[in-house]
Amino acid sequence: MGTVGGGTVSVLSRNAQEIARRAGRGIHISHAAAREYDPSLPGVSDIDRISDDAWAVVDDPEVAIVIELIGGYSPAKELVLKAIENGKHVVTANKALIALHGNEIFSAAQEKGVTVAFEAAVAGGIPIIKAVREGLAANQIEWIAGIINGTGNFILTEMRDKGREFADVLAEAQALGYAEADPTFDVEGIDAAHKLTILSAIAFGIPLQFDKTYTEGITRIEPQDVAFAEELGYRIKHLGITRKTPTGIEMRVHPTLIPERRLIANVDGVMNAVLVYGDAVGPTLYYGAGAGAEPTASAVIADVVDVVRALTTDPGNRVPHLAFQPDKLSSLAILPMEEVETAYYLRIQVQDVAGMLARVAGMLAEEGISIEAVKQQEPAPGESEVPLVMLTHRVREKRMDRAITRIEAFEGIRTPVIRIRVEHLG
Ligand code: HSE
Repeated sequence: MGTVGGGTVSVLSRNAQEIARRAGRGIHISHAAAREYDPSLPGVSDIDRISDDAWAVVDDPEVAIVIELIGGYSPAKELVLKAIENGKHVVTANKALIALHGNEIFSAAQEKGVTVAFEAAVAGGIPIIKAVREGLAANQIEWIAGIINGTGNFILTEMRDKGREFADVLAEAQALGYAEADPTFDVEGIDAAHKLTILSAIAFGIPLQFDKTYTEGITRIEPQDVAFAEELGYRIKHLGITRKTPTGIEMRVHPTLIPERRLIANVDGVMNAVLVYGDAVGPTLYYGAGAGAEPTASAVIADVVDVVRALTTDPGNRVPHLAFQPDKLSSLAILPMEEVETAYYLRIQVQDVAGMLARVAGMLAEEGISIEAVKQQEPAPGESEVPLVMLTHRVREKRMDRAITRIEAFEGIRTPVIRIRVEHLG
């Protein structure tokens, strides 16, 4: 009964009648485990039994569905596996658990004929799992791009709008209950990579492969990059992107420049948004609260309702955990980052002397990299270096890596090149 657990108890109690009208029967919390909780929280007094022993819950014969809102890998994994072994359905909001151990958990659940539902694991209250897995079932999904970490989006938005300090904004997100227990999971992109791993699996019918997701955080974004991006007509967003290409599947989380006219570029604060491109439907966009007590509870309870409705159905005919039938998963390769093709924003600190722009452009040209736009400012008073900002056309990452290595080795360049990938999401 932490942030999400407390929200789940409250919403289930407040909306009990509406939920029962939908589910076809009442849903009652008979047994809860909590290290500590607020007894005055709405709905807590309706729970039959509360202790601090989660093992007693998963072993309780009265319990049909176990809701796991502990987070983290352990003991969440052991509890979920035990609940499955005991023949109970499981609802979880635990993205780390599903991204890393989902293959094992789903296979155990399939063997026992129980369901493990995880809508709340991706983008909080947005029903994105349901949309991709069921609503878009006619399509070949081509790509997904999402703002799937509210804390990171809140930080980038505040940096752009108010010029606030990174640490100060992070502290506010933590106080509001949006940030992970370890906030490096938010700012280094690990939380987004957990969610992207899940989205990629259900979009393309591949096993969960968190270890193959390229992950880059937002800690190196500087206010001047936010400002340059804006001058060039872009916003910087921390995106999770997965795309099917003829040679394999891309799975990557990194700061990204996107054109400011795209709807998703205007998703601000802690809000999340996921843009899904299906071959039949075209682009579809899902927007909403990606974290917080009641938005996440909304997804948890919707899963409980789904499970309740399916209690008496044939397990072989339920919606498959990863959208595709478990014996029909594909072994399509995940592309290593050096094979991924994107456009780039580059910021290079150069000596303000004749010929620098030509030399940098020459080094890019030698790797076959074509330049789309260049921007250079007057040096600040007393400074001999100026930022040279460039947008390039699309190029394979390994070519850009080679060009950057050459540029950084050049005598007139003294600081690392800042590189941010650009996606047009057209
Ligand atoms: N720390 C996550 C976020 C919480 O900020 O989006 C929801 O998964």
